Amino acid sequence: MLAGRGHTLVMACRNTAAALPVRDEIRRISGNDAVHVMELDLCSEASIRIFVENFRTRFPHLNVLVNNAGIITRYPDYTPDGFDTVIMTNYLGPYLLTRLLIPSLETGAPGRIINLTSGIYPFGTYRWDRINAYRWVKAYAVSKCLVLRATFALAGELQERGITVNAVDPGVINTSIMFTKKWYDALIHLILLPFYVSLEKGAETIAFLAGAGPELDATGHCFYKLGIKRVAQKHRDPKTLRDLTVRTRALLHL
Ligand SMILES: NC(=O)c1ccc[n+]([C@@H]2O[C@H](COP(=O)([O-])OP(=O)(O)OC[C@H]3O[C@@H](n4cnc5c(N)ncnc54)[C@H](OP(=O)(O)O)[C@@H]3O)[C@@H](O)[C@H]2O)c1
Repeated sequence: MLAGRGHTLVMACRNTAAALPVRDEIRRISGNDAVHVMELDLCSEASIRIFVENFRTRFPHLNVLVNNAGIITRYPDYTPDGFDTVIMTNYLGPYLLTRLLIPSLETGAPGRIINLTSGIYPFGTYRWDRINAYRWVKAYAVSKCLVLRATFALAGELQERGITVNAVDPGVINTSIMFTKKWYDALIHLILLPFYVSLEKGAETIAFLAGAGPELDATGHCFYKLGIKRVAQKHRDPKTLRDLTVRTRALLHL
């Protein structure tokens, strides 16, 4: 959608070999050659820092950052930096990436940050001392609750700097994230079947926010189906958001 509108796109992917044919397909369909692949593994602080250095060398500014990558894992798994892989991929990695890209977004102002959350976030209540100890769907819900709250915290912080920050709940979509490669996948699929929306529907709110002109100055919201979704006030509690910022920055040595 974005390439078709003539935007320069950078696909930040951990598996660049798998991403290159996708880049070629996007170039072919859109007729836009300004689609690039750059390596980024959100599970590695080092990879994130190298990506940002390379990005800043190649591109003078950034208009829109879409934090899209996300995973669910069935079993405990840790990154080389000692974080749970779900919390790192879905929350800490994108948080570090976002912070490091703020100067590029400022140069590209009005900059826009779009964070992917999920309708599961209300089940993501967490304790900071257990942040690496949650499992499976609970770890995923915690990560998406953190993403939503960080969206609100950053929106307040970055408003003065010409950068908007919003979350998107894309709805329930039949993608690989839904499946565990276990026998109960069929059951999960059956339960979710009535709720599935198409890939295009899931992507349209992201494309709408990313592609809108400077007149769209909404910030600190969660979008769903092209509109603003109501979020319980406790997720915007100033003390909770301050605490989240301090603890996240401490974990990432920022
Ligand atoms: N599907 C849904 O129903 C649903 C609902 C609510 C929210 N969401 C959110 O929507 C976003 C996209 O999910 P999806 O449904 O499209 O799932 P998906 O098809 O599994 O795509 C997830 C993407 O994240 C990438 N990724 C995973 N770990 C990474 C890492 N360490 N570094 C860089 N990239 C990494 C994957 O790369 P590889 O190709 O290398 O694996 C994959 O391209 C996620 O944030 C998800 O939580 C999805």
